[in-house]
This record gives sequence, C-alpha cells and structure tokens, in this order.
Amino acid sequence: MQPDADMNQGQPQVSIVVPTYGEANNLRPLTELIAEELAKAGLSWELIIANDESGDATDEVCADLDRQYPIRLLNRTANRGLSYAVIDGAELAGGQVIVVMDADMSHPPSAIAEMVRLLEAGEADMVMGSRNVAGGKTDESWSLFRHLNTFVATTLARPLVVVRDPMSGFFALRRADWPARDRLDPIGYKIALDIMVRARFSRTRVREIPIYFADRKIGESKLTMREQLKYLRHLYRLYRFRWPRPVEFMMFALVGLSGVIVDVGVYLPLVGLGLHHEIARAISYWPATLSNGLLNRAFTFGDRPRGAIGVQLFQYSIVASLGFLVNWGCYALLTRNVDFFAEYKVLALIAGILAGMMFTFSGAHKLVFRKRL
Ligand code: GDD
Ligand code: MN
Repeated sequence: MQPDADMNQGQPQVSIVVPTYGEANNLRPLTELIAEELAKAGLSWELIIANDESGDATDEVCADLDRQYPIRLLNRTANRGLSYAVIDGAELAGGQVIVVMDADMSHPPSAIAEMVRLLEAGEADMVMGSRNVAGGKTDESWSLFRHLNTFVATTLARPLVVVRDPMSGFFALRRADWPARDRLDPIGYKIALDIMVRARFSRTRVREIPIYFADRKIGESKLTMREQLKYLRHLYRLYRFRWPRPVEFMMFALVGLSGVIVDVGVYLPLVGLGLHHEIARAISYWPATLSNGLLNRAFTFGDRPRGAIGVQLFQYSIVASLGFLVNWGCYALLTRNVDFFAEYKVLALIAGILAGMMFTFSGAHKLVFRKRL
C-alpha cells in the first residue's frame, strides 16, 4: 500500500465507482487498465462495482479479480438503475476522491490522475471528462443519428449548467463534497447532471478535461428509447427545480392553449346542432375551464398537495372566471381610454389575455393549489 494511503487510516486515495449491468466481460480489462494507470500516477485506489442483477458472470469475475486487486462488489437488488447504483456505490467509498465511470471502457482511465490532481489542488470542485472541449473527441464510428441525438440532448441541458458536455457519466468529486442522498432525485442515466443542478455544482467550479469517448467493444449499450424518454422527464424536473415559477407559468400557458381547443371543439358542434351561437359560447367555456382545472391540478401544480377534486375544480372555475373578468376589463379599459389601443384593438386583446392569465395563475398558485392545504 502507498504511504499516503496509510496516513489516511488505510483508506485508498481514490474510490472508483462503476455502475454495471451485464458487464462481466469488460471488468477484467477495465480493472487492469485502471491498475496500470493509477500505479503510474502513484495513486492508491479501490474499485466499487455497483451491479444490478446482471445474470452473467459478474460475481465470479469480481471474486477472481479480488485476489489481485482492491475490488468491492455491491450487489443491488432494489431500485434498479444507473444513477442510484452510482449513489449507492458512492456511499461505500472510502477514498478522498470519488470517480464515477462506465464499465465499457468508453471512459479512459488515463484521465483519472488529472481529475484527482485538480480536485486535490483545489483547482476545481467537480471534474468531468468531456468530449466537447479542445482535445476531446467521440468515437469515429458514431453515426450521424447518434451525434444528432447527443447534440439535441446536450442542447436541452445547456441552460442548466456551464459545462459543454453535461451528458458525460465520467466525473469526479471530493468525497467530502458528495451530496447527501436526499438532495438528489435523478431519473434515468444522467447522475452528473442531477448533481450539478441539484447540489448546485454548476454554480461553483466545474472543470472539464478532454477525453476520447471510445465506443464499447464488448456487450451492449443499455441506452434505450425508454431511457431517452426518462431523460426528458428528468430534464423537466431539473428545469422545475431551477426555475419553478417560470416553468409552472409555461405549463399553465400550455394548458390554457389546450383549453382553447376544448372550447372551440365544444362550441362548433353545438352551433352545428342549431344552438344559438351566444348560448353555445356560454356553454363551451365550462368544459374548457374544467379541463384546464384538471390539467393544472395534475401537471402544472402536480407537486402540490391534493385537496378534494370537486372543491378544487369549483375554486378553480371561480378564479378562472374572475380571470376572465380581468381579461375583459383590461380590454375595455384600454380600448376606451387609450387612443393607441383604440386603433390596435388586437394588442388590447393580447394585453387582456396576459393580464387575465396572470390573475388566474396567481389565484391557482396561491389559493386553489397552494403549497400547504
Ligand atoms: N447498475 C446499473 N444498473 N448499471 C447500469 C444500468 C443499470 O440499470 N444501466 C446501465 N448501467 C451501466 C452500464 O453497465 C455501463 O457501465 C454504464 O452504466 C453506462 O451504460 P451504457 O449502456 O454503456 O451507456 P451509454 O454508453 O449508452 O451511455 C452513456 O452515455 C454517456 C455519453 O453519451 C452514459 O452512461 C454516460 O456515462 C456516458 O458518458
Ligand atoms: Mn457505453
């Protein structure tokens, strides 16, 4: 064992956490490469394999490697998934620095030494292996579709973080800075993104170092369509975390738009049935308001405590109707008193809609679907 490690009560300097699912055949080459690179750098280490019932030879391979290398196998049976495997694995870590990487050798172990150096020197609080900084690169075999896919995923996450490759699963933190479990809430693959946003690493010092992202040679990628949809849900939750009110307002506006469709969709058939158009208009308002109330309850304010549905819908329809009065009142006031709006009535209409929306949004947010019932 290294002298530094002895000073640290027998703990290694670096804990490498690797989530695995069906990676038995990658574990030996990965471990050997890590051993070689970290010996070169003079770093002591442990490798924590966070395995989800892979149904392959992972157990045997780990037992075999354990004779020669500092391997710890964590056999997970609950809460399957890459991100929570990493969180569980990190909890076992004894090293001063925690490095997270894939098992399939997409992430080069040769970058670990520099990650550790930057963290130990205090030059960064988080270090990420990045394909998108000078010197970084993606495997040549990648199809245009895969590049496009990653580009879209990356672009969607960019407003949340400062890094150029927020998709990366190769990153390192000092163990002392690893966020407590209850601060994180990842769904799907992107644990580093969750850490950056929820534990606010994005606002401190995240350093990216260039890596060559190699394609896996053995086994299969687990990145399915289902994972990608999870990613969109994860993103939505991160945006909500970062900008709760604006995101709620946008959802509210989308729901409002859907309400227009319901409104028109009821109005037209009623008129078609021979009903007087003014009566049809008065009727179609209600199903639209009801559907808005339901959707806002389920989605826009879906994270608020639920009150009795009938009561909340009733309250919502009152708030929305008052909102309509604000909308109409604003229109009337502007067109009657301001020459400009008398001329450009459509602008008065839009101003009224916005004022009404803001009124209804505030009422829904502060009264109907309030945070504490
Ligand atoms: N424990 C556990 N449970 N591990 C899992 C699971 C799971 O459900 N799903 C995947 N893994 C492990 C894999 O065994 C592998 O070691 C690692 O997580 C990454 O999985 P891959 O299937 O190889 O992912 P990928 O190459 O498509 O996706 C990677 O994309 C990024 C860059 O675009 C991500 O995993 C990132 O780490 C990577 O940087
Ligand atoms: Mn991979």
